[in-house]
Amino acid sequence: MVPFSKSTQSMRSSEIRELLKLAVRPDVISFAGGMPNNNLFPIKELDEIYSHLPSKLKKIGMQYGPTAGYPPLIESLKKYLSAKGLPIEDNDLIITTGSMQAIYLLAKVFIDPGDRIITEYPCFIGATAAFNSFQPELESVPIDNDGIIISQLEKALSRPAKFLYLTPNFHNPAGIIYSTERKKQLLQLLQNREIILIEDDPYNELYFNKEDKKLTTPMKTMEEPVPICYAGSFSKIFGPGMRLGWLLAPKKIIEKCELAKQAVDACSPTFTQVLANEFMRPDIMPKYLQTLRTSYSRRLDLMLRSLKEYMPAEIKWTHPRGGFYVWLTFPEKIDATDVLKESIDNGAVFVIGKAFDPEARRNNCLRLSFSYPPEDKIQEGIKIVADAIKLFL
Ligand SMILES: Cc1ncc(COP(=O)(O)O)c(C=O)c1O
Repeated sequence: MVPFSKSTQSMRSSEIRELLKLAVRPDVISFAGGMPNNNLFPIKELDEIYSHLPSKLKKIGMQYGPTAGYPPLIESLKKYLSAKGLPIEDNDLIITTGSMQAIYLLAKVFIDPGDRIITEYPCFIGATAAFNSFQPELESVPIDNDGIIISQLEKALSRPAKFLYLTPNFHNPAGIIYSTERKKQLLQLLQNREIILIEDDPYNELYFNKEDKKLTTPMKTMEEPVPICYAGSFSKIFGPGMRLGWLLAPKKIIEKCELAKQAVDACSPTFTQVLANEFMRPDIMPKYLQTLRTSYSRRLDLMLRSLKEYMPAEIKWTHPRGGFYVWLTFPEKIDATDVLKESIDNGAVFVIGKAFDPEARRNNCLRLSFSYPPEDKIQEGIKIVADAIKLFL
């Protein structure tokens, strides 16, 4: 047999995926999926958009489009990002096939085998998988409730690294949001260093209290001591099935990403770009986002109340102010994989902590997603997880 490439050979087999296969029973309550709730998709708005779409636009949607993206959508996004204070003029914007692709393209154009990449611990599994495709050396720096721990990051920065990858708003999996102070300290620390900051921000709109909106201010709006590549997504605010994201980054970087994208998929789906452009209209998207915030916030409340009711005292969890996730930590002697097996037997699933550890070691933690399960199942599901944990205490 012809050997697979070295990068393929280094891919991790997914123990998690194997375990989750056991959880396909329809009665299993899933806290595993980091995805929107099926019942919250803007189906009515979509029907309305499609039925009023002139056939000229439908035809454009069926055709290949420019690699950088459907021009009217690029214009709408520029307006939207500019209203958030993002520096549109000094950068370029490219539409990507989900923000996953933005991360992948950056990895492809910058990483040589052995290059160092600094991430958070815990870290979004999709980003570590994208980086790992190019055989880097990953180092993760822990976060606390306010963001990445600056003293530890300073140590990690003492050796050269290509990227610092961060998810400052409603972190996946930890659910935290960086404080403004921590964002400023971080930018200060990056002064006079040679590194690229990837600011991954797919949950930016999902703040649950109006007064928290200012906390979601992207770092790229503040100052840019090093090049900042800002990635965003339609997945959590429209639908992941659209497969649309974007990357705002210095022009030279976008130029290379566009070249790389030509070889990956030529262009992102034109059809969904046409729909997304209509969806961004001021009479549609803002109203819809408000319904999302209200509904996800209610689910979070339910989850936090249930955790308080059922979890033993030794268990700690984060108290998110938006997004999709709660992160649970338990004593080190407990292995989340054992808890998961027990929990699946009794009808609830989640993702074990090890999946979010770039070094795939630490497993006394787990991620609960409150976005996906039916509201009336959250309490029952949390009780199942809590009972499973108690068996190993
Ligand atoms: C932090 C983070 N970044 C990126 C993504 C990828 O989103 P998509 O490729 O669907 O835009 C996700 C999805 O869960 C995420 O949580």
